[in-house]
Amino acid sequence: MKKPRTRLVSMSISLGLTALLGLWLQPGVSGASGPIGSVHAGPNKYIGAKKCENCHNADASGNQWAAWAHAKHSTAYETLLGEDAKRLAAEAGVSDPSKSETCLRCHVTAYGKPKELFKKSFDPKAGVGCESCHGPGNDHARARFRAANAASDDEGFGDEEEEATYTEIPDGEIVASVERETCLGCHNHDSPSYKPFCFYKFRSEIMHLNPLKPRTAEERAKILVCGCGDACTCDGECVDGCGVAPKEQ
Ligand code: HEC
Ligand code: HEC
Ligand code: HEC
Ligand code: HEC
Repeated sequence: MKKPRTRLVSMSISLGLTALLGLWLQPGVSGASGPIGSVHAGPNKYIGAKKCENCHNADASGNQWAAWAHAKHSTAYETLLGEDAKRLAAEAGVSDPSKSETCLRCHVTAYGKPKELFKKSFDPKAGVGCESCHGPGNDHARARFRAANAASDDEGFGDEEEEATYTEIPDGEIVASVERETCLGCHNHDSPSYKPFCFYKFRSEIMHLNPLKPRTAEERAKILVCGCGDACTCDGECVDGCGVAPKEQ
């Protein structure tokens, strides 16, 4: 006997049932520029951090939502409404930092991208969201919903309490490993409050790994260790995780 699919149903509604029916049921539509497994035409889109919460809020798999929501990236837009921002903005000749490209380009997700790349659910006030680092998530969210629906059709939907399991997803469905260059797009000298950016140290501060993801000891060390031992003193710029470049100024 099947139990009610409360969680999946509510997730589906929040993603847009119309879109599901309209697009997911047309396997013939070619995914012109989508990643592997994509069944709809058109570019991948930004859906907003709130959508990721649906599936990435379980403690057993690392609760990426909570890690982000409690860290500064999630309030990067609000920061532009504060007194410090007004002061920095005045120095830069900007009257309203929360409306100026001069500040917004690093304090919100995907600033300046064409309008048609954003789904309605996307909220720019959510600051530096998941998709700032992981890229647009619409194709990924759709693929995962589809997989979850298919699995529940096959086996019946089990307990409401979802078991903690790890699913391997196709390469390219979403950016899984975030490069230092992505961070440097914002953590650079154009920031009026620039702090020397040490990739390993800063990454450890925002880390939200999934403990269920299988990793070799080597892979784990590469992510968790600060470059070469503890060379990350953050006196200046860390270079490739090893050694520290001379301090500027
Ligand atoms: C319908 C559920 C669902 C939604 C919505 C969803 N994800 Fe996922 N995501 C998954 C599943 C399932 C995996 C596979 C790993 C696992 O089992 O935890 C995954 C994997 C990932 C990975 C790769 C991690 C790895 O293990 O290689 C990233 C990064 C990611 N998601 C980010 C996001 C972001 C960002 C959003 C929102 C834009 C999002 N996800 C929305 C279900 C979802
Ligand atoms: C889209 C721009 C953007 C990208 C990409 C970005 N950041 Fe940030 N980051 C910010 C902004 C803006 C703040 C300041 C937020 C605030 O205080 O309101 C910040 C703050 C931080 C902080 C807190 C610093 C402090 O003062 O306590 C850490 C740590 C951090 N980022 C790490 C990273 C890492 C690691 C990456 C790459 C994996 C990254 N960021 C990518 C814009 C970005
Ligand atoms: C500032 C950049 C940044 C933001 C914002 C961010 N992530 Fe990540 N995320 C990373 C980094 C760095 C990793 C570590 C994996 C790697 O790079 O190899 C990671 C890993 C992950 C993983 C895989 C965990 C693993 O064990 O590999 C998932 C799932 C994920 N993030 C989801 C999210 C979700 C959901 C959000 C928003 C609620 C989010 N991320 C916001 C940078 C970010
Ligand atoms: C090149 C990207 C970038 C631009 C442009 C940018 N910021 Fe930021 N902002 C950041 C980052 C990254 C941080 C985190 C601190 C740092 O720079 O390392 C930050 C932090 C802040 C903070 C928190 C200060 C602190 O000490 O933590 C304020 C306030 C702020 N920015 C206001 C502004 C204002 C106002 C503008 C426009 C005049 C602006 N920012 C433009 C990237 C940027």
